[in-house]
This record gives sequence, structure tokens and C-alpha cells, in this order.
Amino acid sequence: MKIFEEIESEVQSYARNFPRIFDRAKDEFIYDTEGNEYLDFLAGAGSLNYGHNNDIMKKRLLEYIEHDGISHSLDLHTEAKREFLETFHEKILKPRGLDYMVMFTGPTGTNAVEAALKAARNYTGRSNVVSFTNGFHGVTMGSLAVTGNSHHRGAAGVSLSNATRMPYDGYMGDDVDTIEYLDKVLSDSSSGIDKPAAAIVETIQGEGGINMCSMEWLQNLHVVCKKHEMLLIVDDIQAGNGRSGTFFSFEPSGIEPDIVTLSKSISGYGLPFALALIRPDFDQWKPGEHNGTFRGNNMAFVTAKAAIDAYWSDDHFEKEVRRKGSYIEQRLNAIVDEYGEGNFTTRGRGMFQGINCVNGDIAGQITHAAYKQGLIIETSGADDQVIKLLCPLTIKDENLTKGIDIVEAAVKLICKRVDEIPEESDYFDDVILEKNSENPEEPT
Ligand SMILES: Cc1ncc(COP(=O)(O)O)c(C=O)c1O
Repeated sequence: MKIFEEIESEVQSYARNFPRIFDRAKDEFIYDTEGNEYLDFLAGAGSLNYGHNNDIMKKRLLEYIEHDGISHSLDLHTEAKREFLETFHEKILKPRGLDYMVMFTGPTGTNAVEAALKAARNYTGRSNVVSFTNGFHGVTMGSLAVTGNSHHRGAAGVSLSNATRMPYDGYMGDDVDTIEYLDKVLSDSSSGIDKPAAAIVETIQGEGGINMCSMEWLQNLHVVCKKHEMLLIVDDIQAGNGRSGTFFSFEPSGIEPDIVTLSKSISGYGLPFALALIRPDFDQWKPGEHNGTFRGNNMAFVTAKAAIDAYWSDDHFEKEVRRKGSYIEQRLNAIVDEYGEGNFTTRGRGMFQGINCVNGDIAGQITHAAYKQGLIIETSGADDQVIKLLCPLTIKDENLTKGIDIVEAAVKLICKRVDEIPEESDYFDDVILEKNSENPEEPT
């Protein structure tokens, strides 16, 4: 551990919660250098929807490298890019009736968000962008301006401007329609809200604590965006790529956003890759106006195509995600009912679900106890109060059951004894969790 302490920046975060050195990973498991096996319910924060080193993608990638396939090409046309675009068009966009130009941005999610914001601003000639409470869109300046979290915003060092925050669905309680409020302030020339270029939204707020908007709310947001001639950007970086139960998280609403951002699991193999899907009318870039050395990643084109071919050629995989999602929902509801004492709630859909423990300390103690039993799982939300299950979508049923058993045992342990835990203790190091022997059902 010495070298990490000595010269790796203080900015490291996940490494602090899981202080091991990892050297190997396969499917839903990751292994440390001492040979310990961990079930991975963090999965690259949603970048490993098809697991670690998925055999299908690995084979294609190794063949490509062996064949001296292009690894870097700026935005030159390559065979790998052609094949990716054809596959993405034929198997993802066309069957869903979606008409988008595909813009390759720099390789991380925030690069796609920056490109989307810039495209909307340039098209409309307006600078303001509406974003929503608890939204997270990345940490470069433009993305940070539309992100809610004060911990991240505070690091900007400059004022974050040209963004107006609006309440997300449910933020004001179940009885307040926050889209009605948005429409009202946008319709009122004296509300003090500058006409926006766009609204940017996550249909399920991953970092914000798995807050979900209803499909009706999303449809109404779409209508309000049209009414006020602003673009609707759906940031599907975490909720997309099948995580919510459909390839794009907005599919059940029937809307076609003006711009969609994708990253994380789009490469299928954990390789850096991001894109912005832009409705043809709004794709008005001049050549090279927005650029970057690493736009499009040829190795990621190869693995992304392989992932689409393997998992999205028909609806079998989507159905599997929904089946496993129902199982997760049923198990989490039971855990909350049993141990939450009326305080805990469940949230999310598909394989993007979690438990809101209300209190970040408790959620942290639970995830730490789970880690001690071989499960890597993280929290999210303003106070890190939500335990977030992000296991690979390809996880085997028995391992999904095993992971949730560990979560259940950890919740049980912490909720029953939370008052007894002294501050700053090494209590967990000695904890042997009681294995849940109550015959949990396999996913059905
Ligand atoms: C919805 C959403 N948008 C954007 C980002 C930023 O992506 P990246 O960390 O790759 O820049 C994230 C990352 O968690 C995200 O969840």
C-alpha cells in the first residue's frame, strides 16, 4: 500500500473504502493480490454491465490486436468505426425508431455532457441550461455547473454559471408537480429565469441517490421543452446500456430526446468511450469545432459492437434484466420491511436499485460490513445514504442471490446493533456475519 500513500493524489476515493490491491477480475468477481475473492456490486460504477473480461468481447479484442487493428486514429474513418456505427444503427437505433447522428466525444462521460451542452447552446443561441436537484453530470466545468452535489461543486474554484436548478420529480413531495412549476417560471417573463437552451436530466439519478422520475413526468418535461423551444438532453451515462431494463432508460416513456449522452458501459468492456446522440436538425457543428485527441476509441468500437451483437440482437437479454430486477426489488423490499423500522425505503428499477437508509453513517457501516464478507458495494446520494446495487447485468442467479444475502446480513447486523458500535473502532474487522440461512429464493 506504501506507494499509493506516498505518491498517489489525495483525491482517490473508492480506494479508501476498499483498501486492497486488485489484480484480476472475471465476470462478477474481482480478486486481490492475496487471492481473496469479492463479488462486485460496484462494477466500475456502471461501466461493467457485462461483467469483467467478458469472454465474448475479450475474444474479439484479442483478435483485433493480434491482427494489428488500428488502435488510434483521431476521427479518421476506420473499419472498426464503420462496423460499430452499422451495428449501433441496425440493432439499437432502428428497432427503437430513433433518428440520431452519432458524435464521438472525448472518452469519458463528462466529455459527452460537455458536447451536448455546447451543441444545445450553439443551436439555440442561449446560454442558460435547466438541470435538476440531485443531478450528477460529471466534474469538468460545464458538467459541474449542471451538477447539484456541493462536495463536487465546491472544488470548482470559480463560480459555476449559466445553469438554473429546478426541483426533480418528487423533490417537493408527491403532491407537487414540479414540471408545472418549471412551465410556470419559463412562461413568466418576470420570473427571473433566463430562457434556457436545454434541460438536462437523468431518468434515474445514480450519484444523486437512485431518485427516479416517473415516465409521465418525463413526457411532460419533453412537452415543456418543446413549448419553450429548448432541447431535452437525457444523460443516460449510468442508467443507459440496459441498466434500467431497456437499452435506453427513457424508452418506456415513448419520447425521443433531442440529445442523449452515453458512456460507462457502451464499450461493453470497461474501455473509455463516450458519445452524444444528436437529432439531425441539431447536429450543426462546423468541422472540428468541437474536438479532442481521443474521440472514438477503436478498441472500444470493437468491444461495443461485440456487446451489441451478443446482447442486443433480440429482446432476450432485456427480459433477463427485468426478471433479475424483479427479484432484486422483491428482496430489497423484504429487507427494508424486516430491518428498516419504517425508516428505510427501496428505490430504482431494473438492475439499478438501492436501499435508502436515510442516514449516511448507517449506509456506510452496512456497505463496510458487506465488504468484510466479500461484497464490494457503494453508497450514493447527497449524504451517501443510499446503498446502490450495480452488479453486472450478466450476473449468474446464484451470485445475485449470494450478494443480496450479504447485503441482508449486513443490514441485519448494523440495524440490530448500531447503538453499540463505538466511534472509530475496528469493530468490523472481527465481525463474522451470520449467513442468511432462511432459504432465500433464487430469482424467478
Ligand atoms: C449520469 C452521469 N453523467 C455523467 C457522468 C460523468 O461520467 P465520467 O465520470 O465518465 O466523466 C456520470 C458518472 O458517474 C454519471 O453517472
